[in-house]
Amino acid sequence: MKKLIALPALLAVLALPAHADNYSVPKHAAFQEECTSCHMAYPPQMLDADSWRAVMNGLSKHFGSDASIDQKRRAAIADFLVAHAGGRKTGGTRDANGKPLLRISETARFEKKHREIAAATWQRASIKSPANCTACHAQAAAGDYNERSIRIPK
Ligand code: HEC
Ligand code: HEC
Repeated sequence: MKKLIALPALLAVLALPAHADNYSVPKHAAFQEECTSCHMAYPPQMLDADSWRAVMNGLSKHFGSDASIDQKRRAAIADFLVAHAGGRKTGGTRDANGKPLLRISETARFEKKHREIAAATWQRASIKSPANCTACHAQAAAGDYNERSIRIPK
């Protein structure tokens, strides 16, 4: 009897790290240097290629900030993001006008996963914005969005 229980339990444990690693950010020096000073390194897998191109073509007007960088680095980071971009899995990466979404937090996949969070929760001073992933996902920088690492701050 003991053996019958042990095997599924072991398989479950083995499956966890692979899942947690799903969104780890591949190493890329310029991306780390240019894209982590104002917020965490968002996982490239969470937007599709067209969205990343649009983000990287609009850095001078980046969500109210000027995040522009020199052309060579911009092209290198854009190539990196496009190479690791998510596919259909991100779901709904265009807005109602057919333009690529610029925000992970506006994709259908994100909205589905966060459906149960109330509007007032997003506005808490400790959270401020859905873009502030690390407020709730303590291990987000390591690509771990697992349920057991989630703490919604008061
Ligand atoms: C000067 C500061 C700054 C820099 C540098 C910067 N960003 Fe941002 N970024 C912001 C701000 C501000 C927001 C909006 C945050 C919010 O809504 O709370 C944002 C949001 C984003 C979002 C949308 C998050 C979401 O899902 O809502 C993406 C994607 C993003 N940035 C990518 C990048 C990339 C790629 C780089 C590097 C090329 C970069 N950012 C560099 C300031 C910056
Ligand atoms: C207000 C807290 C909060 C913020 C901020 C937040 N999340 Fe979440 N996230 C959650 C909760 C709670 C769940 C779990 C929902 C469930 O399982 O019902 C979740 C689930 C997820 C999942 C699914 C995990 C899985 O195992 O299926 C992903 C991926 C995710 N979030 C990514 C992000 C990203 C990326 C950001 C930032 C752009 C973000 N989240 C911002 C609270 C948050």
